[in-house]
Amino acid sequence: MQRRDFIIKTAASGLAAGAFPNIVLAKKHKKYSVALIGAGWWGMNILTTAIASGTVKTVGLCDADQNQLDLALEKMNELTSDKPNLYNDYRELIQQEKPEIVIVATPDHWHALPTIDALKAGCHVYVEKPVAHTINEGKAMVAAQKKYERVIQVGLHRHAAPHNKAGINFLTSGKAGEIKMVRAIIHYNFFDRKPKPNADPPKGLDWDMYCGPSKLMDFNPDMHPKGFRNYLEFANGTIADWGVHWFDQMLWWSEEKHPKTIYSTGGRFHEDRVADIPDWQTATFEFENFTAEWEHRRIGGGGSEKHNIGVYFYGTKGTFHMGWQDGWTFYPSNKNAREEHMNHTLHQPDGQNIPELWDDFIRAIETGSKPAADIENSHYATNMSLLAMMSYKLGRSFKWDGTKQSTVNDPEAEKLLQRVYRAPWEYPGL
Ligand SMILES: NC(=O)c1ccc[n+]([C@@H]2O[C@H](COP(=O)([O-])OP(=O)(O)OC[C@H]3O[C@@H](n4cnc5c(N)ncnc54)[C@H](O)[C@@H]3O)[C@@H](O)[C@H]2O)c1
Repeated sequence: MQRRDFIIKTAASGLAAGAFPNIVLAKKHKKYSVALIGAGWWGMNILTTAIASGTVKTVGLCDADQNQLDLALEKMNELTSDKPNLYNDYRELIQQEKPEIVIVATPDHWHALPTIDALKAGCHVYVEKPVAHTINEGKAMVAAQKKYERVIQVGLHRHAAPHNKAGINFLTSGKAGEIKMVRAIIHYNFFDRKPKPNADPPKGLDWDMYCGPSKLMDFNPDMHPKGFRNYLEFANGTIADWGVHWFDQMLWWSEEKHPKTIYSTGGRFHEDRVADIPDWQTATFEFENFTAEWEHRRIGGGGSEKHNIGVYFYGTKGTFHMGWQDGWTFYPSNKNAREEHMNHTLHQPDGQNIPELWDDFIRAIETGSKPAADIENSHYATNMSLLAMMSYKLGRSFKWDGTKQSTVNDPEAEKLLQRVYRAPWEYPGL
């Protein structure tokens, strides 16, 4: 079968020209004061992009770990002459700096409170995905955005990516036919990671602040930096870390918001490891008009299947695969028809579309229009991950009333919509 390529020029490195169409048009752009909360890997990716766009002056950096702040400052000094003040406590940063924009790139258990506090203080917020750690936190964030009328952009950069937009257009124009089943996957190899014994937190890390509203966990060097995603106190497993990107695409394509029933199962290879997220997991979501599946495993990622990541849309005219570094591909059912393909439009090295999302964020602030990854739809995409984790923990399916954001006569499941915060932190009010 011949392959027809719609090749879009790929930004192989750095930022592609045209990544900031709004901003480039407006030559001498206003500079917004910006502060970053969570100065780790992804936070610095966002801040670097914001600086490259010419739209910000960095006034503050905040991290619970002084070592991370030192690294961030070093990087800042290479990028700009801005001299941000450094903070360990995000509340002080917001109060002292009164930034116009706050970027929240902390681990997931620390998304809700800084976002809501920043909105309250009048800031626009770019908060990372998944929106929250429990469903009622996300609900409170949606309510706070409505109350304080600031813009929230969620870091679901695939919602602003040219190749993803083109893929969704392909699907909604009916080229794949009628679609009743979708399936998202990620398979990768994880077991080269060796367990490490618990240890004292490194000097400079305020572990109490890091744990914040979660339990005060014993520190394990595997947890930080970056490793929080493997621990249920701080995150919700691969289905929340990766799945939320693909759930967002499903909701975008279908224009549906909530599944009606959810079932998820999975497990772990070695219970004695410190990390506690599922090593494999499947989930089934029944929507009004289609069925969605999730499947991940942290083994067998090495090319045993043609695509190891992405979301498949199974249509009456063929199968559409929305991928990551492999772009998207349509495999027609008709053997005489040609495959269609579009390369990715990602920025490297981390394969992301933050420039487009940042550009869209600034557009939303300046025009009052809805941002591409707005808080409400991103909350619904996050809910799919969190609902699946609830089912995984319960060991059974349950019904969901999305309009009420409540389980259906299910007090046991309902309890999992929020969790008890460790004092002095208080669960955000609705
Ligand atoms: N959109 C994407 O594609 C994408 C990709 C990677 C990560 N992320 C998201 O970005 C977030 C951060 O992930 P990461 O990989 O950069 O992790 P990371 O560990 O590299 O960075 C998180 C930082 O937050 C700091 N932190 C913890 N508690 C804090 C607090 N109370 N106040 C201030 N700082 C605090 C940590 O010390 C750490 O430096 C996560 O929510 C993750 O899901 C999104």
